[in-house]
Amino acid sequence: MKLLIKGGTVLDPVAGEMVEKDILVAGGKIAGEGSNLCSGDAGIVLDASGKLVVPGLIDMHVHLREPGYEAKETILTGTRAAARGGFSSVVCMPNTSPVADTAALISYILNTAREQGAAHVFPVGSITRGSRGKELAEMGDLKKAGAVAFSDDGMPVANAGLMRRAMQYARMLDLPIISHCEDRELSSGGSMHEGYMSTVLGLKGIPASAEEVMVAREILLAGETGCRVHIAHVSTAGSVRLVREAKSRGIPVTAEVTPHHFTLTDEAVAGYNTSTKVNPPLRTASDVAAVKEGLADGTIDVIATDHAPHTVEEKDVEYDRAPFGLVGLETAVGLVWTELVDAGVLTPLQAIAKMTLNPARGLNISRGTLNPGVDADLTIIDPNLTWTVDANLFESRGKNTPFHGMKLKGQAYATVAGGRVRMLGGAVKDLLR
Ligand code: DOR
Ligand code: ZN
Repeated sequence: MKLLIKGGTVLDPVAGEMVEKDILVAGGKIAGEGSNLCSGDAGIVLDASGKLVVPGLIDMHVHLREPGYEAKETILTGTRAAARGGFSSVVCMPNTSPVADTAALISYILNTAREQGAAHVFPVGSITRGSRGKELAEMGDLKKAGAVAFSDDGMPVANAGLMRRAMQYARMLDLPIISHCEDRELSSGGSMHEGYMSTVLGLKGIPASAEEVMVAREILLAGETGCRVHIAHVSTAGSVRLVREAKSRGIPVTAEVTPHHFTLTDEAVAGYNTSTKVNPPLRTASDVAAVKEGLADGTIDVIATDHAPHTVEEKDVEYDRAPFGLVGLETAVGLVWTELVDAGVLTPLQAIAKMTLNPARGLNISRGTLNPGVDADLTIIDPNLTWTVDANLFESRGKNTPFHGMKLKGQAYATVAGGRVRMLGGAVKDLLR
């Protein structure tokens, strides 16, 4: 099957170029590029004029919830949400039930995704058994089964000795550790950022230091072990400063920020909407300014959503009793374009690199480019489309978004994964239908 993408502006984050040209896809691969290409024999033609053609977006921080929490999300619904949001690949966290701490679980996720997925799925294996932080998982087996990184995301690895040992193994296996930085002694019992707003709202706070002491620890351990460490969901100015300084000293550390952390502050908690309850919590305006600065100067390599679906019933409780997490796959492109690109924080090429090439390089997966011969994963973005977020239209089972009703500019128009159109004009096609 051939696919011709005509008339778009192609963003190539490797060459750092934006050029108007056509792209031809054949046999699931990028087959060629040029002007006025013709698909020849029967194929699909997508008109991308006035739109941007970019490598398929990669979200390196997603909770698909299967197995175990299928009421929140499944591999099918989560990858449909990904395709709708413009993501051709997602990297899924292991905090399922059971936790993805064995080769069998990793194989289950990969097989289910292959049969049902509307996007590629790359699983993360846990660092410790059951993510309980007591003993290491069989990290070598996890890699052999297809894990692309290790993380106990959702839980910190409290024991520094154990984390150091995990880094030694991860370094040997040449996979990164993705660290959820949280000192539970400092964060315990909190449900929002500790500061003026938490006092006003009468909620127990989570101080910035709960994140920063662990960022500092991971940097020290990365320096000592040589392990590549990726700091998940950076939310404070102090964390940005620590990562910037570590990079300047050549420590192998990378970092990500979520759209909610560069868009919202703790003021959004004021209505006690539990969709604003997330871990790490929404911080202050100066933290938002610092993560934007970190994005602009390259300290923050990756934009990832931390898509964390929960059921309506779970979220429909008092603020301090609700689970942490919000969904992000179907609002990410709009938030990146509105808050970062249109606002002049990032160029389109910088924004796209942080959603394609940079996560692909960090995880060593052969995606994130449009070079001839690579798997044909690409996304077409309409940067000028103005739309209003409606959680009822989400493909995700999770409707827990703080952005419902928000007006955004920029939306994914089409998602192609492995040469197949998985989403066009908002309509998703997966392998089951
Ligand atoms: O808000 C969050 N939700 N943060 C995490 O680290 C975990 C996630 C989840 O799994 O719900
Ligand atoms: Zn996390």
